[in-house]
Amino acid sequence: MTEPLFTDDEEYERPKMAAHGPVRVRVPAKINLHLQVGPLRRDGFHELTTVYHAIALYDEVTARRGDTLTLTMEGEGAGVLPLDDDNLILRAARMLAKQTGHDPLARLHLRKQIPVAGGLAGGSADAAATLVALDQLWGTGVGRDELAELAAALGSDVPFLVLGGTALGTGRGERVSPVLAHGSALHWVVAVADGGLSTPEVYAELDRLRAAGRADDPASAGPERLLAALRQRDPDVVGAALANDMQSAALSLRPELGDTIEAGMDAGAIAGIVSGSGPTCVFLAQDSRHAAGIAEDLRGRELCRDVTVAHGPVAGARAQ
Ligand code: C5P
Repeated sequence: MTEPLFTDDEEYERPKMAAHGPVRVRVPAKINLHLQVGPLRRDGFHELTTVYHAIALYDEVTARRGDTLTLTMEGEGAGVLPLDDDNLILRAARMLAKQTGHDPLARLHLRKQIPVAGGLAGGSADAAATLVALDQLWGTGVGRDELAELAAALGSDVPFLVLGGTALGTGRGERVSPVLAHGSALHWVVAVADGGLSTPEVYAELDRLRAAGRADDPASAGPERLLAALRQRDPDVVGAALANDMQSAALSLRPELGDTIEAGMDAGAIAGIVSGSGPTCVFLAQDSRHAAGIAEDLRGRELCRDVTVAHGPVAGARAQ
């Protein structure tokens, strides 16, 4: 296997001095190998137990010195994704500036490959990349714990996108700890659907299905089986342990995703699941060649907007 393996040594290291030139940060997409959704909390979030996994499908945020705070973009979602004050990148920049006493001045540019509203945490990934890029550009000296707190305030998945690798997530997903020091690479086929799904709407659909007795609460057991499977480094064993409580809700809102999963399985995948809240579906393959074959087969069936391959785990948001 030629793909790079993630090691814990790659964890985010805080910069010590401000950078003068542009800072370019690459950040991966995430999938959930295991996603158990617990009860709705009083703060509007669901209690989660999840196993996050960062895959080699990347967005890139470049930060340059500037007299104002600006954001431009290219790639996935360009012309559609709002670049106004609600954008998570600008919110991340303002939050880091406020917290560290810096002026929120930078020219930010996003190169986007991760589909918008796809269940791959693309928006959270961009927020994570922005924190890491501006931390370096401004030389904020913010500590790892403080950065994790800022990340959590921006979104439940953001702390994981700073960390990367494979990690256990608890709370609303914002409390993360690495679960593997050295894991074998897993090979995925990523089937991107037309249009996105709103994460809050998928959670709300799951609550509705559960209230009507049409979805189990929780649907899956704890993550122990999946964690044990990862230690065995056998894709067949990992495939049998994949679980996603949100899948029933995503399928209820987008029944055609069932056809995509069936097509991936017909094409020879070990297992196929909806990624997070969907509508992206991911398929596990034996190795990179197997993944390429499944991807080609799926492309030929024209069920998805795009089909790509990506291995995991990979590091989180890192300056290049
Ligand atoms: O944390 P984030 O901003 O990504 O969450 C978006 C929305 O997804 C929340 O407002 C909430 O409706 C839903 N959510 C949830 N439980 C979680 C995470 C997210 O209900 N653990």
